Amino acid sequence: MTLAEKLGQLTMASANMATTGPMPGNRWDQEIRDGTVGNLFNLWRAEETTAAQTLAVEESRLGIPLLFGFDVIHGHRTIFPIPLGEAAAFDPDLWERTAAAAAWEAALDGVNMTFAPMVDVSRDPRWGRISESAGEDPFVNAVFGRAKVRGFQGQDLADPDRVAATAKHYVAYGGVNAGREYAPVDVSDRTLEEIYLPPFEAILAEGCAAVMPAFTDLAGIPLTAHRALIEGRLRLGWRWEGVVVSDYTAIPELILHGVAADRAEAAALALNAGVDIDMMGFAFLFGLPEALERGLVEIATIDAAVLRVLDLKDRLGLFDAPFARGRQRPETPPADLVALSREAGARSIVLLRNDGTLPLGRPRRVAVIGPIGDDPAAVLGSWSAAGERTEARSYLAGLRAALPRTEVVYAEGVPCVGDDTSGIASAVAIAREADVVILALGETADLSGEGGSRSRPGLPGRQAELLAAVAAAGRPVVTVLTAGRPLIEPAVFERSNAVVMAWGLGTAAGDALADVLTGRADPGGRLPVTWPQNVGQIPIFFGQRPTGRPPEEGNRYTARYIDGPVPPLFPFGHGLSYTTFRIGVPVPSAPTLAPGETLDVTAEVENTGTLPGRTTVFLFTRDPVASLARPLLELRGFEAVALGAGERTTVRLSLAADDLAFLGLDMRRVFEPGRLEILAGQAADRAQLEAAAVDLVASAAVATAGAAAEPVPV
Ligand code: GLC
Repeated sequence: MTLAEKLGQLTMASANMATTGPMPGNRWDQEIRDGTVGNLFNLWRAEETTAAQTLAVEESRLGIPLLFGFDVIHGHRTIFPIPLGEAAAFDPDLWERTAAAAAWEAALDGVNMTFAPMVDVSRDPRWGRISESAGEDPFVNAVFGRAKVRGFQGQDLADPDRVAATAKHYVAYGGVNAGREYAPVDVSDRTLEEIYLPPFEAILAEGCAAVMPAFTDLAGIPLTAHRALIEGRLRLGWRWEGVVVSDYTAIPELILHGVAADRAEAAALALNAGVDIDMMGFAFLFGLPEALERGLVEIATIDAAVLRVLDLKDRLGLFDAPFARGRQRPETPPADLVALSREAGARSIVLLRNDGTLPLGRPRRVAVIGPIGDDPAAVLGSWSAAGERTEARSYLAGLRAALPRTEVVYAEGVPCVGDDTSGIASAVAIAREADVVILALGETADLSGEGGSRSRPGLPGRQAELLAAVAAAGRPVVTVLTAGRPLIEPAVFERSNAVVMAWGLGTAAGDALADVLTGRADPGGRLPVTWPQNVGQIPIFFGQRPTGRPPEEGNRYTARYIDGPVPPLFPFGHGLSYTTFRIGVPVPSAPTLAPGETLDVTAEVENTGTLPGRTTVFLFTRDPVASLARPLLELRGFEAVALGAGERTTVRLSLAADDLAFLGLDMRRVFEPGRLEILAGQAADRAQLEAAAVDLVASAAVATAGAAAEPVPV
């Protein structure tokens, strides 16, 4: 291979079927023939990828096939709920099924690599990319990411119905300062190790083929040049041998970060840190030759990166069958995938408040009002890949299909953004004549996702005025929120009879919403993020550590605000059903737990209502006394349960001693004997949880002796 051909394998260029960054795409035909562009992204459909692959395989000197990457985040053509929404289902089997379906559809269109799952723990609703994550908890992000990797990659990457997965954005991107996109990140080493890194370690252990470093820095070191965390941790520490692909132009952006004086230095920093592919930066292609001349890099480092890229292509089966992916797509999205989108949508919907107005009976007339009510693009959510708005079902269409004998009328009222309020009067007029109003408010897809940070994450535009006017009409109001984040707008919850969080449900959004509003499906979703009462509370999450002065209403000298509340509006795990559930006291299978042992924890769940329903049981632990302050709650397990009226079952979750180890005072993993509280319930709210306790002991022998013992390094 010539140097140019080697650097071509380390280059990924954007085609122009989608724009996902600041530089325009191209087709790069001549560069593919020359071998100086060895990988593409943002290109799909068999005729397109086959043409490009033919150039590489038949017209370049070496005939090395191309990677075709694409952001298949929550579906390819058939779109499923946005990740933050699908996380609300708390169902790894569902998460895997939708990823497998997305892989099949993407591979059909010639894609062989997705830039997903995104597992950035996200605790700041101002940050637009919270929409792409599985929420605030590292355990949920790890389980979610592992399921997605299994779905995308299957058992064999050479399977032409599967694609390579990319864990992103490595690491701690969710900690951007003030929720501002791409802003600097400063987190403690302990928070990095205990919160942000575990999801990545888990999904690389699941076999994830690639990793994408974050745009951001971490305590002054841009992740794209972070040798300790890429070469040091991914490769040497975790012995992972996959491909590291930079984010979009992130390598030349090292100059703007102020750690490289020119393109050659930026390229050298990234390559020496362990980055293999330069996405759209062309810093490797045009900077590394000079870096070699200046002695900033060695050819052996380039060769090692090339070998990792060629190995991925070989594992994908591209050398043996470069055209196996990329076949004729059906005229319309396959019915089974649309059905899966509808199922996932209903499972993702969170019923936040309900005075009994839901489920809808048989209303004579329903008024659908609001800018999201008939917008099929908005319901696809951000990062909707090859999803077509023309193939998506709007809320209005779904409700009309579900209520054939009901007159369903529509008025936009106000646009999603802007100051036009001229439509409010006509919206109020149809509200007055309706038996019930479905008020579809929230964000269009561009108001979250990348570059979607909002400093005031409430109802955009003049939607709050529309809400007030429609509520004043005096008819029951069901507010349906569509957004990539918890929206902070107290009036929604004060003026509505019921409130539903519909995130961005995807292709079958209208049908999924109608299924839940009519009661055909129980609202199965539970919040994967804490819902703040106001922006001042952010970041707010259940895994906080205690303080020496716990909040106490009226007592100045406690951890509180003098001008507002401490509790969130809704805790992690919140979500109502059309029935009610009782969760019993958790029962550990033994009174003690020693290193290497695993405890079963069972809890009875009963549907105490008159309708079938679904809930999620969460298992938390609390270590009240340790060598350092431990979080008030730590999530250790969860299980979604569906029960008929009056039915009961027993949920069984396991608790491995090794998972209870944490980083001690010396930042080494330690298992500390002592009392451990075990809590079970439906939300991260101590008042709603049933509690038990076990004794962690240094060894089974000690368990019989009864003596507490010294911490056990693990
Ligand atoms: C974007 C995003 C990243 C995405 C990549 C390719 O800037 O940060 O998540 O995978 O570029 O589109």
